[in-house]
Amino acid sequence: MRALVLAGGSGTRLRPITHTSAKQLVPVANKPLLFYGLEAIRDAGIIDIGIIVGETEPEIRAAVGDGSALGIEVTYLRQDAPRGLAHAVLIARDFLGDEPFVMYLGDNLIVGGISELVAEFAGGGFDAQILLTKVDQPEQFGVAELDVDGKVVRLEEKPKHPRSDLALVGVYMFGPHVHDAVRAIEPSARGELEITHAIQWLIDQRYDVRSHLVTGYWKDTGRLDDMLDTNRKVLESVEPSIAASASVDAASRLVGRVVVEDGAQIVNSTVRGPAIIGRNTRVVDTYVGPFTSIYYDCVIEGTELEHSIVLERCRISGISRIEDSLIGRDVEVTPSQALPNAHRLLLGDHSKVSVATP
Ligand code: TTP
Repeated sequence: MRALVLAGGSGTRLRPITHTSAKQLVPVANKPLLFYGLEAIRDAGIIDIGIIVGETEPEIRAAVGDGSALGIEVTYLRQDAPRGLAHAVLIARDFLGDEPFVMYLGDNLIVGGISELVAEFAGGGFDAQILLTKVDQPEQFGVAELDVDGKVVRLEEKPKHPRSDLALVGVYMFGPHVHDAVRAIEPSARGELEITHAIQWLIDQRYDVRSHLVTGYWKDTGRLDDMLDTNRKVLESVEPSIAASASVDAASRLVGRVVVEDGAQIVNSTVRGPAIIGRNTRVVDTYVGPFTSIYYDCVIEGTELEHSIVLERCRISGISRIEDSLIGRDVEVTPSQALPNAHRLLLGDHSKVSVATP
């Protein structure tokens, strides 16, 4: 089997982070999100992985390389524009050949991996297998309708009146007939070739499309809250550790699951886990609360920070409390010394700032 991992797209829901970088590389517990998917595929025994890339191709290439560090072989497939998930299959035709394959959305995370599902599909002789999960707001997802035997009879993309609460999870398995499907369908109203339409085409042609209910944790990290929730979930199971080259002074307290990476320094601070402090990051006179990931080369001073993700080389000092935040690379957040006593902001397009009022 092969795998097709989708790491293009426009990421509009995660702007402004996605103006300058790929959402698939946002670190979750200090590891790029995309790596969780690639590792899950590798652990299912699949080595040949095609990665669909768009404008952020250089950044994805820099992070993943040829895949050898992860024990996989990567082929990059450039998509000229985000023309839909089925379009990604269309342009991967030569790479995929007639082999069955797993399609994995690079901004999704499934805790527990996909090995069982891949084995089930490989041994089943089906034409496609979709994963489903019960959700509270099905109108925001691709939704499946099953018959009494559990066979998929209909798929709808973000329906106004959903016929079930079963949403499509971002991992699909296909046999070679999907290539006919993606050639047969037309772009949707939003101008994309929809994978739901391709699967519906398979169902209409009486191909064997099966579904599998996912009961474990799954998240599409397209929005900020989902990204933070994914970070929370992954941090919950990290093993506490302090790197030999890290330092934690006597005035500091680490409570619960805390990871302190190489060269990090914790000075006169409390870190209440689960939390992770990245390589060469300095945390001084600070409180770091649960579900916080601070990436490498940051300086956090005189600050309270909780339930947040901070990317590399940030400098945050003297801020009484930051919560539920995703802070991009090289960001500076400092108190204002100058009068008048006002917030001074230099924010990129589509930034979101929610200022606490006294
Ligand atoms: P989506 O989250 O559906 O789309 P998006 O990344 O464009 O984000 P937004 O809706 O916020 O604008 O995409 C799911 C995954 O598939 C994600 O990793 C991006 C990738 N993708 C492609 O590689 N090519 C595409 O044409 C599309 C639509 C998505």
